[in-house]
Amino acid sequence: MQFVDSVFQLRETLKGWRSAGLTIAFVPTMGNLHAGHLKLVEEARENADKVVVSIFVNPMQFGVGEDFETYPRTELEDNQKLRQTGADLLFQPTVTEVYASDAKTVVTVSGLSDMHCGLSRPGHFSGVATVVCKLFNMVQPDIALFGTKDFQQLAVIKTMVRDLNIPVGVIGVETVREASGLAMSSRNGYLTNEEKQIAPSLYQALCQAKAAVQMTDQPYSSIEQAAMTALTEAGFQPVYFSICRAEDLSKATPTDNNLVILAAAKLGKTRLIDNLAFSLN
Ligand code: PAF
Repeated sequence: MQFVDSVFQLRETLKGWRSAGLTIAFVPTMGNLHAGHLKLVEEARENADKVVVSIFVNPMQFGVGEDFETYPRTELEDNQKLRQTGADLLFQPTVTEVYASDAKTVVTVSGLSDMHCGLSRPGHFSGVATVVCKLFNMVQPDIALFGTKDFQQLAVIKTMVRDLNIPVGVIGVETVREASGLAMSSRNGYLTNEEKQIAPSLYQALCQAKAAVQMTDQPYSSIEQAAMTALTEAGFQPVYFSICRAEDLSKATPTDNNLVILAAAKLGKTRLIDNLAFSLN
């Protein structure tokens, strides 16, 4: 696996691959790689000739008081995992390589960025959209792969790609879960042993809400409220629990068929998110 940290080196390598007619898959990450990331790399391997992975802890998507400084940086382990999984190139730029000190351009996908996680993390999705747009311009991949665990992030990126005519196929890859059901996340490493026992309740709450939607006539607002109460009783501080239309993440009504239940909850200092998408027919 080749390692590059400058856009110049990256473009030199990619130029060679493209002129040889090779297709390129791209997996953007913030490092601290777990089985969920490695599944993205494996899917990328199956769908393109060459796989580029980036590791960049993007300061622009962290709010004041969030964990940018303490976000786990595990370069050696990440490098080894990527080699074993068959990535061809690791792009690991510095902040100054990615952002000009007087940068003036921000990409914002309005509406979609302001709901759910966007309400409690203002500016977060503009940080994500801006860096992903820049990374797409640097790598110019044929396809890019993202986990569906970050369902709202994926929706923001797909909309950005459509609206800005970016010639990249965006592929969502299913969430990888621990045996307990807990969605894999770099932030799971922040959980104490006691919190690790509680954390799977988030997925259980999603499964129970899905069953209630499918098998009862309860109003969606009652199902959401019951889930918020169950999460609080389990020891979480729920941020939101919302039964939504999968297409645009707006509140679902009983006539909608394609649904996603989106949830975020704090457990101690750790903010966890998860979701469950399903169709009613
Ligand atoms: O999902 C992530 O790890 C990040 O939000 C991403 C897409 C790499 C952008 O920094």
